[in-house]
Amino acid sequence: MLKGKDILSTYQFNMQELDLILNTAAYFERKVKNSEKIDNCEGMVFASLFFEPSTRTRLSFETAMNRVGAKLISMAGSESSSAAKGETLEDTIKTVDGYVDAIVMRHPMIGSAQIAADIANHPVINGGDGAGQHPTQALLDIYTICKEKGDIGGHTVTFLGDLKFGRTVHSLGYFMQMYGNKMIFCSPNALKMPEKITNDLRARGADIIETDDAAWALAQSDIVYVTRVQRERFADPAEYEKCKGVYIVNKELIAKAKQDITVLHPLPRVDEIATDIDDYEGSAYFRQAHNGLYVRMALLALVTGRV
Ligand code: CP
Repeated sequence: MLKGKDILSTYQFNMQELDLILNTAAYFERKVKNSEKIDNCEGMVFASLFFEPSTRTRLSFETAMNRVGAKLISMAGSESSSAAKGETLEDTIKTVDGYVDAIVMRHPMIGSAQIAADIANHPVINGGDGAGQHPTQALLDIYTICKEKGDIGGHTVTFLGDLKFGRTVHSLGYFMQMYGNKMIFCSPNALKMPEKITNDLRARGADIIETDDAAWALAQSDIVYVTRVQRERFADPAEYEKCKGVYIVNKELIAKAKQDITVLHPLPRVDEIATDIDDYEGSAYFRQAHNGLYVRMALLALVTGRV
């Protein structure tokens, strides 16, 4: 069903494909945890091209490449490649596509993954295109919600923080609507979810409330998805200074939240989640990061037709 396909945006998936990805991720999780031999992608080589910084996406994809039995070539930071000499993205992709069986890429420009996919003959997986989309993050988010809550749908979910530049919430909103969750978008006015996304979700039937009151939002919510204020995407540093630190999820806020609220965050965090809630049992952000491995193993094996 996904063999040969690019993974560019959450908007491309139907329910059948999502079930397949989640079930395949659970299959690989069981295999890894039982220390079983996994050789689905033996004989293949994958490229990991990261033109922007990353810890979780790059390292979990590279671990996934190793864990499914493939070999990999890796670029971390454009300064180590000919992009630093002015080579275009198009030429880089044309070249790398000739070496490998699939390409995972992160790039600062919105739409860059689509450009790469249009050029490459092999599948391209978007590891984040600027403030655009981060579909593999949203897939690991719903895998995590299913594990933490027992079901992906039927919840009230607050997206908290930088909803303007946070590509993870741009991606996840669509899945939350698909699975029938209510959404609360909680942000300062300057960092509101782009109107285009909110309008599109509402046109698809999403139930969305917008507010800047975090305590109120968390009191209604089964899940809070916290995002970092994306300093690197502000054209004016003074604007960033005004917005940073506006919400901090800490023990005091959790005490006012709905009982058993699950706290998610794509990470990295700066100061928007205090370490004093790391041992709260609903704090799932590190479990969420670990789940990325299984989801990314599933994606690699599925797009190459090896599972
Ligand atoms: N969640 C996420 O994309 O993290 P990295 O930027 O570390 O890859």
